[in-house]
Amino acid sequence: MKYAIITGTSKGLGASIAALLMKRGVHVIGVSRSKNTKLENLAIENSVSYQHYTCDLSRVEKVERVFSIIANQCNRPEITDIYLIHNAGTVNPINTADQYTSEAITAHVNVNLIAPMVASSIVLKKSKKFNLPLINVYVTSGAADRSVYGWSAYSATKAGINRFAKTVALEQSQLDNDNKVMIFDPSIMNTEMQQEIRSTSKDAFQDVNQFQQYKKDNKLRSTDTVAQVLINILMESNKIENGGYYSVKDVL
Ligand SMILES: NC(=O)c1ccc[n+]([C@@H]2O[C@H](COP(=O)([O-])OP(=O)(O)OC[C@H]3O[C@@H](n4cnc5c(N)ncnc54)[C@H](OP(=O)(O)O)[C@@H]3O)[C@@H](O)[C@H]2O)c1
Repeated sequence: MKYAIITGTSKGLGASIAALLMKRGVHVIGVSRSKNTKLENLAIENSVSYQHYTCDLSRVEKVERVFSIIANQCNRPEITDIYLIHNAGTVNPINTADQYTSEAITAHVNVNLIAPMVASSIVLKKSKKFNLPLINVYVTSGAADRSVYGWSAYSATKAGINRFAKTVALEQSQLDNDNKVMIFDPSIMNTEMQQEIRSTSKDAFQDVNQFQQYKKDNKLRSTDTVAQVLINILMESNKIENGGYYSVKDVL
């Protein structure tokens, strides 16, 4: 039996990844602040389980507690593969760095960087103990590799998670296991995150007109289209390049 632990399943890309995996017979554990009842119904229709953990990923102590509970569930003989998909993310605060508050910076870094690092560490430990093959997926952004006016926090955390992923891949490659680590760049999608980006002021985000134009020109991909690209990669996990960077733009 295959299990996927996915953060940010309440909406957007995470909801699509969860739905498509369940349709492929994968049991899903979702983590976000709000529930997604559609996924619960979809699980019943597809004879798989969908388990939700309510957790604010900006609260490190809650991340530790929830992922310890989830990781302990992995010690089940019927589990053959685990996908750990770090998808939850925030682009806020969008503003120049001189306007940030320490609270906003802390919450942002906790969600985008600390939570996936803590969750990875906890689940990697258990996968080693229980000898379970683990595929760790980190959802990134092109902003990790370029400077966008008003996105210094977002670029910094996405760059940080990329380096973390590549370093974990290096470490795992030296162990006698089948674990894989991959970075997934979904490019631009039609989600609430894009709505937030489009509604920012030009003073805070100089490229706002360009992002409004993406929407008008129908350039934002649907999350189902993007999730399908990831699912195709995961379904042939033996071909995944450990530490590899997979961009939707290379496929679609
Ligand atoms: N949309 C794009 O164009 C785009 C482009 C490049 C990369 N990405 C990346 O793709 C991933 C998914 O983005 P999306 O566009 O689907 O975003 P979205 O529609 O805003 O959804 C974000 C998800 O993350 C969860 N989340 C956010 N803050 C959280 C917190 N404090 N605690 C727990 N869960 C939290 C949300 O759940 P709750 O609100 O219920 O907690 C939600 O399920 C992100 O990593 C993002 O950086 C997106």
